[in-house]
Amino acid sequence: MFKCLLVNKDEDGYRTSITELPEESLSQGNVLVNVLYSTLNYKDALAITGKAPVIRSFPMIPGIDFSGIVEHSESDEFKVGDKVLLNGFGVGEKHMGGLSQKAKVNSDWLIPLPESISPVQAMSIGTAGYTAMLCILALEKNGITPASGKILVTGATGGVGSFAVKLLSLMGYSVVASTGSSEQHDYLTDLGAIEIIDRAELSAPGKPLMKEKWAGAVDSIGSHTLANVCASIQYGGAVAACGLAQGMDLPASVAPFILRGVSLLGIDSVMRPRADRVAAWKKLSEILPATEMESIATVIGLEASIEVAEKLLNGDVTGRVVVDVNK
Ligand SMILES: NC(=O)c1ccc[n+]([C@@H]2O[C@H](COP(=O)([O-])OP(=O)(O)OC[C@H]3O[C@@H](n4cnc5c(N)ncnc54)[C@H](OP(=O)(O)O)[C@@H]3O)[C@@H](O)[C@H]2O)c1
Repeated sequence: MFKCLLVNKDEDGYRTSITELPEESLSQGNVLVNVLYSTLNYKDALAITGKAPVIRSFPMIPGIDFSGIVEHSESDEFKVGDKVLLNGFGVGEKHMGGLSQKAKVNSDWLIPLPESISPVQAMSIGTAGYTAMLCILALEKNGITPASGKILVTGATGGVGSFAVKLLSLMGYSVVASTGSSEQHDYLTDLGAIEIIDRAELSAPGKPLMKEKWAGAVDSIGSHTLANVCASIQYGGAVAACGLAQGMDLPASVAPFILRGVSLLGIDSVMRPRADRVAAWKKLSEILPATEMESIATVIGLEASIEVAEKLLNGDVTGRVVVDVNK
């Protein structure tokens, strides 16, 4: 038997509880992992509370990412005792997830934990840090360097945004942070932002082309914000788009793309090929000092996850929430 968070749905709605299940309840997979840490992402909070239909089949163990140690393996790629990491692939949505002491998954979805990152540090970075790194690597693949000019990060106090500010600054970029949280300016400066703008400057309908301000951008907001960001990128620049905090729409014109050669780079972390995942985690392990990862995260136990999920959706949580599934 193992302990986990389980979401059920009936005519009265969602019911989430801590429960014990036999190993046979796990989904199919060729690697059994003793999970050590998972996290609470925005998506997990939606799954736990039922505020959006993230879960595709019930009952479901939520948790879109985890780190842990291989307990049993039918794959040549992993052996008992290996430290591993998983983000995405529908885990916690349609395949039993990481908010659990055990997970059975497909070996193709796992990557080895980089040497210099511990299981708790890996989850302090989590899907947010990994997605931020995918965005930055996409900008660099598109020719952006620290010499190109300033890089804008929208939703800067969020999970992806905070990591994007921190990582870009560690990589030598001049970072402009866009935020709606005026009380978090010190936090953003501490992360490495050299300039902070109010997100209201970007969130209303704008013009097809605006003053060229930034060489590149990491956007987790979408909608008018993304349209205005594209309209304000310098000639030949690029925008990595990964989120929809303002909305899924994109009320933009093609002007920045056809008149300024701006590139809009779509970033998906969930089904990302393994080579890209390994590259992103390798880069994270190289540039993020261990102390930085720990200072960003609060560690809670499995029991506290339900209450914290509500707080996260209400915007009452700052930084990353790591879940110690054995606590
Ligand atoms: N593509 C992928 O694979 C992938 C992976 C991870 C996350 N995501 C997506 O990326 C987005 C951000 O994720 P996250 O984990 O960083 O979420 P988060 O921690 O909730 O951060 C989102 C941030 O966006 C800003 N924001 C919130 N509502 C807004 C609004 N109505 N208008 C403008 N700004 C708003 C806030 O920052 P300020 O207060 O600083 O303005 C907030 O902290 C989400 O949409 C998520 O689904 C996608």
